[in-house]
Order: sequence, then structure tokens, then C-alpha cells
Amino acid sequence: MDTIGILGAGAMGSGIAQVAAAAGHKVVLCDNLTIALSKASKGIQASMKTLTERGKISDSDAYSLFSRIQFADHMSQFRDCTMVIEAIQEDIEQKQIAFKSMEAIVAESAILASNTSSLSISAMGAQLRHPERILGVHFFNPAPLMRLVEIIPALQTTAEVVERGKKLIDNWGKVTVIAKDTPGFIVNRVARPYYGEALRMLDEGIADIATIDWAMRDLAGFRMGPFELMDFIGNDINYAVTEVVFENFYFDPRYKPSFTQKRLVDSHYFGRKTGRGFYDYRPGAEMPQPVKDKALGGEIANRILAMLINEAADALHWRIASRDDIDLAMTRGVNYPKGLLAWADEIGISVIVEKLDSLYVEYLEDRYRCSPLLRKMQRQDLTFYGK
Ligand SMILES: NC(=O)c1ccc[n+]([C@@H]2O[C@H](COP(=O)([O-])OP(=O)(O)OC[C@H]3O[C@@H](n4cnc5c(N)ncnc54)[C@H](O)[C@@H]3O)[C@@H](O)[C@H]2O)c1
Repeated sequence: MDTIGILGAGAMGSGIAQVAAAAGHKVVLCDNLTIALSKASKGIQASMKTLTERGKISDSDAYSLFSRIQFADHMSQFRDCTMVIEAIQEDIEQKQIAFKSMEAIVAESAILASNTSSLSISAMGAQLRHPERILGVHFFNPAPLMRLVEIIPALQTTAEVVERGKKLIDNWGKVTVIAKDTPGFIVNRVARPYYGEALRMLDEGIADIATIDWAMRDLAGFRMGPFELMDFIGNDINYAVTEVVFENFYFDPRYKPSFTQKRLVDSHYFGRKTGRGFYDYRPGAEMPQPVKDKALGGEIANRILAMLINEAADALHWRIASRDDIDLAMTRGVNYPKGLLAWADEIGISVIVEKLDSLYVEYLEDRYRCSPLLRKMQRQDLTFYGK
């Protein structure tokens, strides 16, 4: 079986190491900080303990999984790896330096992969002698639990490398989707309106956080409302992703961040992890109650859903991913109750186009422009999954 190298033993690197070892690979987990390695080792052991206590794996399987992971403080140990996944901090220069060093160590056929959530894979390949073996493999946090992995070929990547990398990760029990090397790939792009449009309605005073969360959870069927989800993810992280996507899309107003969330970040009201976010999680704090007005709730849900579907349709229009991969990414990556394109068929393309057009007429902002694909489909009476 192939030996897999992981560079960076932080939250993501240690999780990916566990996934690869669980699939039977020998893993070399490398970090330049000894403290990070010992933290990763303790974290994986704790995770093994939970799994054995819950009867998910036997003691001997947990032991052999853990013994397949070698903790290394230098990347020279990557010599025999057929794929190395880089999971160091989100900094293009640091990643480029790391890839250059790794290329001097591994065999010429080894895949060099990055777990970046926002940087250009093609830019990482540019520094390599053999850029055709660079590949994006975007795991979600926590890697052992989240099933989706976005596979992102760079401009330079060969089809053989994409196929080999995808096959490897498919065998780890993950669901893989192929995404174009563009900001946010699939999930972090298509999901933006879930947060952005909710924030916009809050800022306009259309409804409060509890009512918007209630509408999206109880009426639209999402697992968490936008504000509880932002508090769960962490407003610092969620805001940073929005900002990166906004900047990398040359300031497209569709992805514009919100001052309200920025002020929360400024105040270190990051959400659950700091005890305060949109909601107050401190002991004894009162949770605001929603106004359970079905007409208002329906308006909220329809507006956010129309914006999400527009984003998904536009991703298809710009060939970011296939129809099936876009729907799979949102149902498996962020647990949406339905694929957005299948949902569009159910609601009716014309209904979505009319909703977007009514928002556009109301605001006269580019943010609400309807995707050319939806408009064409309406004209030709097409659906995503049918005709
Ligand atoms: N945390 C998330 O939710 C998440 C989700 C998906 C993708 N990502 C991406 O995964 C990557 C890692 O994120 P993370 O949250 O695990 O970061 P982290 O800060 O938890 O871990 C990074 C680790 O890399 C080590 N490191 C840094 N430079 C190194 C080098 N040159 N050689 C060896 N080790 C080095 C650090 O010591 C640290 O232990 C980033 O690119 C991030 O954007 C993160």
C-alpha cells in the first residue's frame, strides 16, 4: 500500500493522517514544531479511545491504525511517499517554499497535494520542476467525520494525476467532487449567500437573528440557521472566508462582507468558542425567541434559497463543477437538505428567476443579477435533471 505524507500536524493535518491510516496506509505526519507533533499524537490517541469506547473499532484495530502513523520532524522522511498532502498555514509563500523542498525529496511520480481552502493551486504548481503533479485536495473540518473532499486540478495538472489522486481518496471512504481552481472551489463559493443574505436581511431590519434562524431551520429544513451556524463555525473564520472570496472575485457585490459580522469579529465575539457571537452563550443568558410568522418566514426562506440556487446555477454556468458534483458537494459537504439544483427543479426555474428579478428591481444592485443559465433555462423551459 502507498505511504502517504502529511505536512503540518495541526487540526487538518492530524485529521487527514487519521483518515489515511484508517484506510490502511502507512502515514508520515511531519511538522516542524515538536509540540504540534505531540499534540497531534495525543489528539489521534484520544480519537481512537472515543471510537473504541463507542464500539466503532476494536482495540487491536485502533492500535494498528495508530502504529501506522510515523511522527516526523523533518520532511526528509517523505522519501517513500507516493502522495504528500500539505496542510500548513494558509500562506502562499510558505506553501510554495514547502512544495519546492518536498519536490527535492519525493520520487518524480509522487503527487504533491494541498489542502488549501482558498489559495490558487496553479500558483503552487508554478514553483515546481514538475508542476503536472500538483493537486488540490480540500478536506473539511473535522477530516475524519466530514465525508466530502473537493479535488482541484491546477492548470498544469495532468488527467492521470487527477485520476490517481481521486481514486486514492475515494478508497478512504470519502465522497470526492472535482472543482475548478477558482476562489472558494464549490462549497465555500456556493454557500456564501446562506450567510450573506441572512446578514443583509438582519441589517435591513427585515427580521431578527432568531426569526431568520427559525425560518431556515424549521421552514426550509436546514440543520442550523445561518446565525447559529456562523457562531458554530466561528465568526472569525466565516468572516475571513467571505473576505477572501470577495477580494478574489474582484469585489463582486454578491460576496460583499457585512459590517455587522466584522464588528463581532472586532469585539472577539467569535461565537460558541468565546461564549458570545450573534447569540450569548454565557451561563444564564436568555436566548431570543423567533417571531413565528409563517408569511415572514416564507419570505426569508425563499429569498435565501433563491440566492443559493442562483449561486449554484452560476457555478454550473461557469463550469466550476458538474451538476451532480455541485449538488453532492452541498449535501455531503455542508449537509444541505437537498441538492440546490434538484431543489430548483422542484420549486420551478421560473419561480426562482422571478424572485431574483424582483430583488433586482427593488435594489438595482448587481448582487441580485440572475445567472444567465437560469434565464436561458426559463426561456427554453428546461430543468436541471429533466429535459
Ligand atoms: N481548519 C479548518 O477548518 C480548515 C478546513 C479546510 C482546509 N483548511 C486548510 O488546511 C490548512 C491547515 O489548516 P489548519 O487549521 O490545520 O492549520 P493549523 O494552524 O492548525 O496547523 C498548521 C500546522 O502546520 C505546521 N507548519 C507550518 N509550517 C510548516 C512547515 N514549513 N513545515 C512543517 N510544518 C509546518 C504548524 O506548526 C502547524 O502545526 C490551511 O491551508 C487551511 O486553510 C483548514
